Amino acid sequence: MDRTEAMDRTKAIDWMEAMDTMDNAKKLFFSKETAEKIAAGYGTPFYIYDAEGIRGAVRGLRKAFSWADFREYFAVKACPNPYILKLLKEEGTGVDCSSYTELLLAKACGFSGDGIMFSSNVTPAEDFEAARSLSAIINLDDFTHIDFLEKHGGIPEEICLRYNPGGDFSISGAIMGNPGEAKYGMTAEQILEAVRILGEKGVRSFGLHAFLASNMLGDDYWPALSRVLLELALRIRSETGVNVSFINLSGGIGIPYKPEDKPVDIEKVGASVKKVFEEAAARGLAMPSVKAELGRYITGPYGVLVARAIHRKDIYRHYIGLDACAANLMRPAMYGSYHHITVLGKENEKPAEVYDVTGGLCENNDKFAVERPLPEIEIGDLLAIHDAGAHGFAMGYNYNGKLRSSEFLLDGDGTCRMIRRAEKPSDYFATFDFEGSDIDIDGSF
Ligand SMILES: Cc1ncc(COP(=O)(O)O)c(C=O)c1O
Repeated sequence: MDRTEAMDRTKAIDWMEAMDTMDNAKKLFFSKETAEKIAAGYGTPFYIYDAEGIRGAVRGLRKAFSWADFREYFAVKACPNPYILKLLKEEGTGVDCSSYTELLLAKACGFSGDGIMFSSNVTPAEDFEAARSLSAIINLDDFTHIDFLEKHGGIPEEICLRYNPGGDFSISGAIMGNPGEAKYGMTAEQILEAVRILGEKGVRSFGLHAFLASNMLGDDYWPALSRVLLELALRIRSETGVNVSFINLSGGIGIPYKPEDKPVDIEKVGASVKKVFEEAAARGLAMPSVKAELGRYITGPYGVLVARAIHRKDIYRHYIGLDACAANLMRPAMYGSYHHITVLGKENEKPAEVYDVTGGLCENNDKFAVERPLPEIEIGDLLAIHDAGAHGFAMGYNYNGKLRSSEFLLDGDGTCRMIRRAEKPSDYFATFDFEGSDIDIDGSF
């Protein structure tokens, strides 16, 4: 099919955009040869991560906040692989856990004490108990959790309180999030009361946390969030006499999923946040330390899902079917998210057709791309789905009996190692292995 024919099948603007973005198309951190080698040894689909890219993101972040007593607590939920967590530990980060199982993972990787932030909500008793047994910093989501935590693990000397300012969260007049509709955090009045009560119960050090918007491109989210949290810190100081020890800016810094997106300038973010902190200090606040729980910014751009084209179908649209599906990467199906796609070995070819790139789930939203102009794809081609390193593998599931893929870590010296094997049918059936079960499925025919 030539380009003119194809233009009839899609909006001309898509083609124009595709051509425009070819020059600044996303680059991959691995070669087609590397991908084929992994595929030959272990099959497809698989995730591959760029160790140097992840290290670079942590180092850049730390540099941008070198003016502060700063620590990143990587959000485990974004990429819960112990090899990645260990790599991050070597870089000096802590971890942010949200559940009992994530705490287990953190412990296995050597994190403990103030190296763990425990930011959960609707928290079960055993999760609080586990977090307390590791001496993690508890980030309390609700006022009623004070009593609950006291019964299940006990009140620590240091605690973080999660704030929900309600209403809309706007930056320069544009609404960025709707805290008033979010289930997280406490009102300002609840936080003031919590500070009083927890102070009486022996808490000596308080932190404040809020997560008001997600995947924020632009350099003004954290400065705006800092203003919200520092205003509350000033109020706490004037109404209770307590100086907040740390501000937890949480996650929410975005990444450029689309080739034309501008990456966040983290240096600029750091400098702007510094200004906001200095303004609060000038109003009498003792300078708090700064913590973060970034996930997407740290690993998102440095993870790619590689899958093989196994079918082509031409009906009212052209479909390319992959051996990966939404169970391996849910974001496009769940949020309609854009993930850039490169056909390996065809990086320099111009778009030749407009495809829906799909997985094999019995769900019509199982599409990695909709009406995407791409080079001609042949059966057997490997496709790289970019920016899948955060909330990618992690959100995987087993619908339709689909199995989770393997994961690989590529280092700067070219070494590439498997950091998780692919699930086997026997893993899928493992939960029928209980006393009294008369189901015996060994995973073979
Ligand atoms: C409490 C908390 N902290 C941190 C994160 C990480 O956010 P991001 O990956 O957008 O940086 C999340 C994400 O859901 C979160 O819920």
